Amino acid sequence: MLNFEITFMDFLLEHQERHGRTYHFLILMNSILNAAKRIQHYYLTGALRGNLGLSGLVNIQGEKVMKLDQIANEVVKHYLARSGRVIYAVSEEEDEIIPMNAAGRYFVYYDPLDGSSNIPHNLRVGFLFGVAKRNLEGPEDGHLRAGQDYIAAGMFVIPTGTFTIALREAGCWRFHIDETMNYVKPTSMELPSDPRTWELSFNSAHRDYFARGIRDWLDRNEKKYQFRYLGALAGDFHRILSNGGLFLYPAIVNHPDPRKNYPQGKLRLMYEAAVVSFMCREAGGLAVDEDGRSILEIKPEHIHQRTALYLGSRQLVEEVAAILKEKK
Ligand code: AHG
Ligand code: MN
Ligand code: MN
Repeated sequence: MLNFEITFMDFLLEHQERHGRTYHFLILMNSILNAAKRIQHYYLTGALRGNLGLSGLVNIQGEKVMKLDQIANEVVKHYLARSGRVIYAVSEEEDEIIPMNAAGRYFVYYDPLDGSSNIPHNLRVGFLFGVAKRNLEGPEDGHLRAGQDYIAAGMFVIPTGTFTIALREAGCWRFHIDETMNYVKPTSMELPSDPRTWELSFNSAHRDYFARGIRDWLDRNEKKYQFRYLGALAGDFHRILSNGGLFLYPAIVNHPDPRKNYPQGKLRLMYEAAVVSFMCREAGGLAVDEDGRSILEIKPEHIHQRTALYLGSRQLVEEVAAILKEKK
């Protein structure tokens, strides 16, 4: 008996037709899938075989950039431009906004390769993206969209081959790569309400420099949950989506090494925090910043803006949000 799984494209086509939508978004998603598969290929043939090292360059955030980051960026840019559907793109790897096709309908905000410290270890990295739609009537109204105005957001976990995408008001769905390099088998993702599987995920090295209320909350609550941290947002959030719990990357202040201070938080709003927050909302969860404010409501002022992030099961995020609001 031949067995045919539902592919992501089957799923999306059905979704677009059911909602009476155009096929433009399908074409855009086809280009994003092509990019992800190609990044996966370079990871497997480069990083996994030890062929990629440090490039010696620094990105706009002043961190080390490995060759694979740049390769992945070129790959994504190529396919997005080729789709003809993107007016502007924003990439973690580019200082400025990238103009693409003047007639394009979409803005795409992406981190082509997140969690690059995992590359030399052959551990998981991510390709994260958010999509917003341009103003189709009248003049263009700008590319600095808040997460709540995204129409879709997703992440590929590389090289394990999972793809999770949230479509606005249509849930959060996970797919797995098959032996023909198709993403198949849609599974609806909803954060589990049973706290027995919940996990906490954060870099404990910075703990002493979190806000006092957050340190106290951790002291009171951490023993209730398992603790997991990979150091790549896509991988860490992948687990939280399945098991529930809380991922946090708080503001870091008063660190003895001033280079390690992140008063605004470390993660980037447009292509990291808002992407996972959008997915989390569609899976029934919540995300807030250091003021306890919804991440999805933050209107970016510049493309590489950072934010603190508390993300995951609604109950836990509401508890920390109350503490963060009190502190203000
Ligand atoms: P980058 O974009 O530089 O690869 O950053 C990775 C991010 C994110 O994926 C992860 O959650 C966080 O940085 C890890 O930071 P720490 O190393 O400070 O824990
Ligand atoms: Mn990156
Ligand atoms: Mn990143």
